[in-house]
Parts: sequence; C-alpha cells; structure tokens
Amino acid sequence: MQQEHLFKVLVIGDLGVGKTSIIKRYVHQIFSQHYRATIGVDFALKALHWDNGSVIRLQLWDIAGQERYGNMTRVYYREAVGALVVFDVTRASTFDAVLKWKDDLDAKVTLNHGKPVPAVLLANKADQVSVQQPKLDSFCKENGFVGWFETSAKENTNIEEAARCLVQHILANEESTVTDGDPGSLVLSAYSNNKKNHLSCKSCAKS
Ligand code: GTP
Ligand code: MG
Repeated sequence: MQQEHLFKVLVIGDLGVGKTSIIKRYVHQIFSQHYRATIGVDFALKALHWDNGSVIRLQLWDIAGQERYGNMTRVYYREAVGALVVFDVTRASTFDAVLKWKDDLDAKVTLNHGKPVPAVLLANKADQVSVQQPKLDSFCKENGFVGWFETSAKENTNIEEAARCLVQHILANEESTVTDGDPGSLVLSAYSNNKKNHLSCKSCAKS
C-alpha cells in the first residue's frame, strides 16, 4: 500500500557549521561560499520516494546556531521526530557544542513513548579535513546518536545517506508505536527495539 508520511526534522548545531548549506544542497542542489547567518528558524521541504513506494516528506527546521542561547528552542523542537546535529570538522569548539545541542534536544522533546528522538551526527566540511573514525563511533554509542556521517555540502558528500539513515530510524520508531497497543506484537516490537539499539553507527553508515 502506498503511504504518505510527514516528518518534522530538526537541523541543529553551532553557528556557521553548515546547516543551511546542507539543507540547500539537499533540497535545491545548490551551494554558496557566502555566509549569511540564519535568524531564528528557516524551513524547507524535501520529498523522498521510499523503497516500498511510499512518499516521505521531510519538513526541515533549520535552526540558527545562535538560538542555543535563546529561549525559543523548546518551541522549535515541538513535535519533531528526528534531528541532524551538525559540527564543523575544522573547528573543535563546534564539536564540543554537539553535546550541548543534544542535551538541549533531549531535555525539550521526546517521542510519544518517551524515547529520545533519533539523532544523526554530521561531521561537516569534510572536504577540508577528515575525522577520526573510531573516536566518532564510540562518541555516538556513548551519547545516543544513531549514527554519524562525514558530510560536505560543498562537494555533496553523504547528505542523502545521512538523511536516509535518519528516516530509517524514524520509521522504525513509528512501527514500534503502531504495535505498542497490540499485546501479540509486543515481543516483535521489543525485538525490533533491541535490534535498533544494536544498529551501530558503522552499520548505518554503510547501508
Ligand atoms: P547559522 O545559520 O549561523 O547557524 O550557520 P549555518 O550552520 O547555517 O552555516 P551556513 O550553512 O550558513 O555555512 C557557513 C559557512 O560555511 C558558509 O560560508 C558556507 O559556504 C560554508 N560551508 C558550509 N558547508 C560547507 C562544506 O561542506 N564545506 C566547506 N568548505 N564550506 C562549507
Ligand atoms: Mg544557517
């Protein structure tokens, strides 16, 4: 059966890490070197044709880096079902900020069944420097990211892959919500939850 889904996805991370550039690349296939800081929040819509014929619409919320110091994130995060958390591989301070963003996210929004929203970590500007793989693998496991990708908005690297990884996790959460009410499928849902926890960063990055 053909299905339509609309998912609200947040794109967060410090000033200038490339959130707007990633979205512009993903949605409009364009890139600009020119930096214009986002004020408040911007929006973009991306339609994805999923394997089974369903259409997935991602409503991307491009949240200004400077909003971490404001009081609005609680409002922006409401009803989100997934997040891309971005840092800039050329600036260590933006990596340090990743956990602040993740904590802010987890403190202000959870899924209906109380679980944290799935978050994928993006090591952006990978056209400039490469990152240490084992370090990010364990960082993701320890801090509850479902996976990570080295991305470049400039060279169009791994953005689609990262979005697909996030959507897979969003869909898996949807399925476990649907089965929650049916005692017969509790075992199945526990199984799929379990499987999800073991979907390591690497296995997601490879798929
Ligand atoms: P705020 O809106 O202030 O939170 O910033 P942002 O995260 O939206 O950053 P933005 O996308 O505006 O990018 C900031 C700067 O980094 C711009 O000059 C971009 O051209 C540049 N940039 C973004 N992504 C990449 C990338 O993958 N590689 C390189 N080399 N530069 C990038
Ligand atoms: Mg921006």
